[in-house]
Amino acid sequence: MSKPPVKYSGPDRVFSGVQPSGDMHLGNYLGALKKFADLQNDHECVYCIVDLHAVTVWQDPAKLAGQTRNIAAAYLASGVDPDKAIIYPQSKVAAHTELAWYFNCVARIGWLSRMTQFKEKSGRNAEAMSVGLYDYPVLQAADILAFKATHVPVGEDQKQHLELSRDIAQKFNNDFNVPGFFPLPEPLIKGPGARVMSLRDGTKKMSKSDPSDNSRINLTDSPEKIAKKIRKAKTDAGVMPETVAEMEDRPELKNLVGIYGAFSGLSDQEVLSQYAGQGFGVFKPALADLAVEILRPVSERMNTYLDNPDEIDRILAKGADAAAEIATPIVADVRKVMGFWGT
Ligand code: TYM
Repeated sequence: MSKPPVKYSGPDRVFSGVQPSGDMHLGNYLGALKKFADLQNDHECVYCIVDLHAVTVWQDPAKLAGQTRNIAAAYLASGVDPDKAIIYPQSKVAAHTELAWYFNCVARIGWLSRMTQFKEKSGRNAEAMSVGLYDYPVLQAADILAFKATHVPVGEDQKQHLELSRDIAQKFNNDFNVPGFFPLPEPLIKGPGARVMSLRDGTKKMSKSDPSDNSRINLTDSPEKIAKKIRKAKTDAGVMPETVAEMEDRPELKNLVGIYGAFSGLSDQEVLSQYAGQGFGVFKPALADLAVEILRPVSERMNTYLDNPDEIDRILAKGADAAAEIATPIVADVRKVMGFWGT
């Protein structure tokens, strides 16, 4: 009989990251940031601004540091407390890139070639993409496992990358005969905001890279702009149905109901029970009011932080030291496990 796999026995730790490559939108907020703040009270949490991931596509050097501060401000404005959670920029902690190299030698080309996000981002132009963009999920696995993180709050689009992280952790543990050395990190994806769709097309996810600004609500949008985007959101000619099953072929409706639920804490069915039989002329203004009520204080707090970049820089520098303190010894152990000279 084969022996049962040895389970990781280290402490629970939460890790996640956001790329500093454009404005934060409602999908980032509901899929990630809101969960970050919720988790910090009863977990050790490490929240990274993944600037090394951002440069897998060209970033303007004159803007990169500012974009990093922007994400830090969004973390803080969403309620992440630097006294409870670590907030830091990825490029300040060398453990990420070092572990990524070791993982490059563990992960298989076949695994990476199945990654749908690379296919979506590169389109028909894969040959012209950077090697970094292809290798992106290996760096993501290194981010998580340099902290031996056990839980990773993300939106649904990151599911496949998390599976790859688990595969890499498992293969490393097997290849070097160190059962339980790395945990198999679990994605925390559940919840109503895990997949927020475009306001212009309910079958496409809300994304920074969508050319239409009306497709997304940015955290920095004014209340008037938020209300306008919701008013203009694509819908069908029907009225609000009574049951969730009736939303099946109505992706735009389903998305708006999901957003309402994520803001209000109601289930889809509870939202429908409140609005069944009403038209979008009633539902959309109610959703806009709710969105503004929740997002206005976030964007106001974000601006307050951005008016004070020295404070952000202080938080990031302190966070980088704290992050390095955790990750550096873990990567030193990896070196030892792999048998490098001098370990
Ligand atoms: P990024 O920067 O694209 O997105 C940041 C977070 O927002 C979530 N998200 C969404 N959630 C719901 N609906 C949407 N429409 C939506 N769009 C984005 C993403 O799932 C993510 O949680 N690869 C990651 C960054 C990363 C990372 C990591 C995450 C790098 N290393 C390690 C976790 C752990 C990314 O590109 O996120």
